[in-house]
Amino acid sequence: MSDIAAAVGTPFYCYSQATLTRHFQLFRDALAPMPSLVCFAVKSNANVAVLKVLGDLGAGMDVVSIGEYLRARAAGVPGDRIVFSGVGKTPTEMRMALEGGIRQFNVESEPELEALSAVAASLGVQAPIALRVNPDVDARTHEKISTGRKEDKFGVPISRARAIYARAAALPGIRVVGIDMHIGSQLTELAPFEAAYLKMADLTRALRADGHTIERLDLGGGLGIPYTRGNEAPPLPLEYGAMVKRVLGDLDCEIEIEPGRLISGNAGILVAQVIYRKKAEEREFLILDAAMNDLVRPAMYGAHHDIVPVIEAPAGAPQVPVDIVGPVCESGDTFARQRAMPLVQAGDLVAFRSAGAYGAVMSSEYNTRPLIPEVLVSGDHFAVIRPRPSYDAMIARDTIPAWL
Ligand code: LLP
Repeated sequence: MSDIAAAVGTPFYCYSQATLTRHFQLFRDALAPMPSLVCFAVKSNANVAVLKVLGDLGAGMDVVSIGEYLRARAAGVPGDRIVFSGVGKTPTEMRMALEGGIRQFNVESEPELEALSAVAASLGVQAPIALRVNPDVDARTHEKISTGRKEDKFGVPISRARAIYARAAALPGIRVVGIDMHIGSQLTELAPFEAAYLKMADLTRALRADGHTIERLDLGGGLGIPYTRGNEAPPLPLEYGAMVKRVLGDLDCEIEIEPGRLISGNAGILVAQVIYRKKAEEREFLILDAAMNDLVRPAMYGAHHDIVPVIEAPAGAPQVPVDIVGPVCESGDTFARQRAMPLVQAGDLVAFRSAGAYGAVMSSEYNTRPLIPEVLVSGDHFAVIRPRPSYDAMIARDTIPAWL
């Protein structure tokens, strides 16, 4: 990390190709021997090099915008391995995906179903769809990332599903292929998944009795990861896979899953440098060169990221509580309060763990801080997979109208 920091400057995101690979394989193996496609949730980490690592292993992609679709294609992933999710697909996005090739649309509402049929019919094709059904289970995760309760904006109520499938079957531009669910993110227990998938199994049987072809079940993503070393143990992909086989294994369906965080989260870190160590009356602050615009999760969700010195302190070295903050001009730019840390000094490097998911993708240029570089490590070499833009390039994107 020190070598990379010297070469690219700080702060930067760094991802491990070996860990991305291992996490993908864990999921794939956990679902075997059921036919399955692991569709990486591009929203968690959209760098084209990361997508290529996974795509080259045979991963599919779960995208929620045509921008993500184009990234997946740029990474060499064929359209027939891409599923298109999201509550607000526009007709333009639908058309581009249909023309470019798409495995399936996960349709989230009746108006969307009608719109998709119209777009597909105008192109003389049928759009393969799964309806995203909201099973009304509480994923018991953070309020902002829970999606499977009836008050959430996602999917259609399970009580309406049969009627909407009947409508889908009658539409000229629609071909029903399966059912989709996604109940939330960072789930740390299997019970809510199991409750949802039991409802999915019942619905599969009911829809088949109604005459629909249900050949794929998309189970969404959401399996959580440990953010704190040592004292968290969310279920492993193997345990998740065993549950899926138990609940859905006899339905003779291809299983699709959409994991993001579990594949990319612990495959990435954010490396920053300490700018100042500042003593205030009540507490001490570590001021870093990374800020909430680079990693917004602590400010936005109160999320915890372990922060460790890049050069490990010797065992038994004293630790003192510090507030770890960035340079952005608001108090929300706080990564951790009263966090026990060894005595790092100005100039030292620190790493945020578990930052490979929903890190770089949620960053912004707030305070006119350029987007930070992303680096991929493989074995003993590394490559910059998104360079730091120059200040000139960042500012040159603005244009001044002729009348000024
Ligand atoms: N599929 C769908 C339809 C989704 O909405 C999501 C995440 C996933 C799959 C992937 O879920 P995962 O396996 O990564 O949990 N920004 C938040 C997380 C938002 C998740 C949104 N949907 C965070 O930083 O925690």
